[in-house]
Amino acid sequence: MSVAELEIITLGESVLHESARELTAEEIASPEIQALIDDLIETKRAAHGAGLAANQVGRARRVAIAEVEEGNPRYPYKPPIPLTVMINPAFEVNDDDEVELINEGCLSLPNVRAEVPRHMSITVRYLDRHGQERVERKRGLTAGTFQHEIDHLNGTLITDRAEAESVTTWEEYERSGREAFERRAGEIVARYGE
Ligand code: NI
Repeated sequence: MSVAELEIITLGESVLHESARELTAEEIASPEIQALIDDLIETKRAAHGAGLAANQVGRARRVAIAEVEEGNPRYPYKPPIPLTVMINPAFEVNDDDEVELINEGCLSLPNVRAEVPRHMSITVRYLDRHGQERVERKRGLTAGTFQHEIDHLNGTLITDRAEAESVTTWEEYERSGREAFERRAGEIVARYGE
């Protein structure tokens, strides 16, 4: 089966607000789900996202990708995240957690930025594409990226979490929000190392 770039579903389609279904070990090993994973990776990379969840390609299954390459053009302030394939992911908030407002974008909301409260110290549990359990601590902006993807699998978008007045177009963010946010993002990365 060849790898394909899939259409990314944008705001207005109900699948973005659906809670995705967990996958069984048998389903994870199936050619269908392995192909979906490859297609999600291809689609995320072509769109320069920081992640992509299966809901965003019209499949309400608990599969999501996170990956930030060095110098990502959409999110130049995000530290790199190695390719992570998460199946049935969930997270817990760590004892040392603090909450920060993070300005985020989303491939399913093409011209929107919004400030979303995110936990800065979490433990993520998921199965990798081979069905192996992984438990990883994530902090700072990287923790926010993982929460964003897990939100998608629960049918939650950034606009569902944001204060209404923080929702802007991408142009307005560039004009009046970007400088202050990138300064704040730099402080978060310096503090948490990710
Ligand atoms: Ni998104």
